[in-house]
Amino acid sequence: MSSFHHERTVEHATVALSELLDGHPVATFVIDNAHVITHWNKACEHLLGWSTQEMVGTRHHWRAFYTRPRPLLADLIVDAVDPASDRNFRDKYRPSTLIDGAYEEEDFFPNIGAAGHWLQLTAAPLRGHDGRLAGAIQSLRDVTERRVAENALRQAHDKLEHTVRQRTAQLTRTQQQLVQSDKLASIGQLAAGVAHEINNPIGYIFSNFGTLQGYLDSLFTMLDAYRAAEAALADPALAQRLQALRQQVELDFLREDIPTLMQESREGIVRVRHIVQDLKDFSRVDSAQEWVWADLRQGLDSTLNIVANEIRYTAEVVREYGEIPDIECLPLQLNQVAMNLLVNAAHAIGPARGRITLRTGCDGEQVWFSVGDNGCGIAPQDLGRIFDPFFTTKEVGKGTGLGLSLSYGIVQKHQGRIEVESALGQGSTFRVTLPRRRAATEERKPSDNDHPVR
Ligand SMILES: Nc1ncnc2c1ncn2[C@@H]1O[C@H](COP(=O)(O)OP(=O)(O)O)[C@@H](O)[C@H]1O
Ligand SMILES: [Mg+2]
Repeated sequence: MSSFHHERTVEHATVALSELLDGHPVATFVIDNAHVITHWNKACEHLLGWSTQEMVGTRHHWRAFYTRPRPLLADLIVDAVDPASDRNFRDKYRPSTLIDGAYEEEDFFPNIGAAGHWLQLTAAPLRGHDGRLAGAIQSLRDVTERRVAENALRQAHDKLEHTVRQRTAQLTRTQQQLVQSDKLASIGQLAAGVAHEINNPIGYIFSNFGTLQGYLDSLFTMLDAYRAAEAALADPALAQRLQALRQQVELDFLREDIPTLMQESREGIVRVRHIVQDLKDFSRVDSAQEWVWADLRQGLDSTLNIVANEIRYTAEVVREYGEIPDIECLPLQLNQVAMNLLVNAAHAIGPARGRITLRTGCDGEQVWFSVGDNGCGIAPQDLGRIFDPFFTTKEVGKGTGLGLSLSYGIVQKHQGRIEVESALGQGSTFRVTLPRRRAATEERKPSDNDHPVR
């Protein structure tokens, strides 16, 4: 009798649990000690697409989640298996902070619904009055929306980070450019001053040198005549004195050495004149010139003509011109850039004949040209300095170290950029990218364009 009563109570409780669960908005199912489904509520039907009729009384709860049989959290609880020891759950589960003996898990289930769902699962033990395990209850919350939102947020965040990184890089570049142009400005002033001071004395030394050369020639002619006349001297003592004197001053040696000295000095002066000219160009990057619309390719070709002699025996020049529109520029100055790059390329090529490649192209409102060589390349530690005024790795007399900084200034004046790619021993490519038209802020009166120092 008491046993009958007990049965009824359990049945009653079970029915009550069914009603409770069906009225509950959270998808929930219950399995008994034998893994048989005893409850599968309406929310569960709705979320998982499997009906109560199909599920209750079976052990098929896995079907609602996976394509092949495998335990769910509720099954582990029924079997008293620690999820930590199950490879399916090891990295995913965590003990519930609310319910003793319960576990939680969040996972993506690709087989639920059309596009899969993110579910948050909680499984807890069910105990009878006597405290013994009677089964397990598992509830599922659809957290897809939250997950999607999280992912979107993450993506937005990543994108933002990317943008920040990009901006930082741009800023760094701008800052470098500013430092560079600052340096250029002060070097420009210095160069202008030095060039001006040196130009005059060098001018008259150079012209005096020409005169001196002429005078020396006359003196030597005269000396030769005297020497020839010595034989005709009647006084042998006088002849002997002359000969002794000649040996004492080493006249023969002087006759040989003076022209050599003259020649070397002359070369030195020519070199200095060259440097001064470079300095003047450098400090007057922006002498009064007209902004005009021009085709870069024409400029490259005419520059190539000028330096052809310097390059002819060093390298073959390959032109790979892409179609480009005219750009608004100072063509003569851009020619100078091209010239510097071409000469540098030729210098970079060793004793073996090399190749210099000229390219043009455009990208939207940007037009570019590049000068590439298969020469010596640039050492990584030099890359940051090649645009510095007076930086040169060339032997004295071959380089002034002004070519690239001059070019840098010109390109900057065009609001463009000059970039280099180089591999040591393989070659370098300098690329100059220019805007098609000059920005409105640059539209100034020509007088404003002049360099402050002349
Ligand atoms: N195409 C190139 N290949 C290798 N090194 C180069 C090239 N262009 C420039 N450089 C390096 O940059 C330095 C500076 O160049 P530049 O300013 O033109 O001065 P210079 O040519 O008078 O040395 C050169 O001395 C050289 O070391
Ligand atoms: Mg150079």
